[in-house]
Amino acid sequence: MKRIGILTSGGDAPGMNAAVRAVTKTAIHHGLGVVGIRYGFAGLVAGDFVTLTAENIDHMINAGGTFLYSARYPEFAQKEVQEKGVEQLKKHDIDTVIVIGGDGSYHGALALTRLGINSIGLPGTIDNDIPYTEYTIGLDTACNTAMQAIDRIRDTASSHHRVFVVNVMGRDCGDIAMRVGLASGADAIVVPERQFDIKEIAERLKRGFKDGKDNGIIILAEGVMNAADFRTELLKYGDFDCRANIIGHMQRGGSPTVLDRINATKMGNYAVKLLLDGKGGLAVGMENGQLETHDILDLFDEKHASEESLIDINEEMTK
Ligand code: F6P
Repeated sequence: MKRIGILTSGGDAPGMNAAVRAVTKTAIHHGLGVVGIRYGFAGLVAGDFVTLTAENIDHMINAGGTFLYSARYPEFAQKEVQEKGVEQLKKHDIDTVIVIGGDGSYHGALALTRLGINSIGLPGTIDNDIPYTEYTIGLDTACNTAMQAIDRIRDTASSHHRVFVVNVMGRDCGDIAMRVGLASGADAIVVPERQFDIKEIAERLKRGFKDGKDNGIIILAEGVMNAADFRTELLKYGDFDCRANIIGHMQRGGSPTVLDRINATKMGNYAVKLLLDGKGGLAVGMENGQLETHDILDLFDEKHASEESLIDINEEMTK
């Protein structure tokens, strides 16, 4: 093993840079070279490579976004395109690859492994929607950012005795909503994983106001519906002064939290060790706080298991 290629793919997530830094520093420690592949799999095929050194990854532990850039590149599903990528890697003496991204990106890592380039997938997405892991790089920062935004929304909601329906990101997964909802003391958390009864939520809000509350907060996962549509439905069951809010892409930006920096660093370090052991075609995950691996192939038939007990706790306290 001589040189590791590393790329970020799909939506960016805070902590991706910290993972790239950890890979680079660990690899250098073991006498290996590291090459950053810019713009994900598109850059791999185009040969858009940059040598990573201790100097150019300096300060990357706290940088938001991904300095390697990212791109969605569905063309990489084609065998001829994958082979072009492998040619580029060989031309640059790169014999292993680490892919940081969502589970869509893992298809590329598996394809490379099958073509003789051992590759490891690291879970990099704010959505926490990857099977066999309780944590993805960026989740914690995104949740903190959303929570802080909701704390501010509650201030104005209280001043005006309003209800706010707040959309948080997560694609089809409710994990961000579950965490942020519980952490911000929401009156209701609405996620794709659970049925909901909008009439009952309206009754809950009315009861809250009657009992002396001065605001109502509903955290709505974007995978359920748009906050504006939810508001329209809600108003059929109560005469609330209600506003809809979408926090949006600010959840993807910003300097990573302590947890994201530490986990990204552990995962980057672990990925290099897996490659040193001659492993490939593996996805790194976390269970009960411990790093572990699964065959990438196994992920494709599996669904991510959300921590739905967070909803149960919230329901017990608000219903
Ligand atoms: O996968 C990360 C994510 O931010 C999702 O939460 C969201 O649904 C989607 O990406 C937004 O994608 P885009 O940046 O293409 O608008």
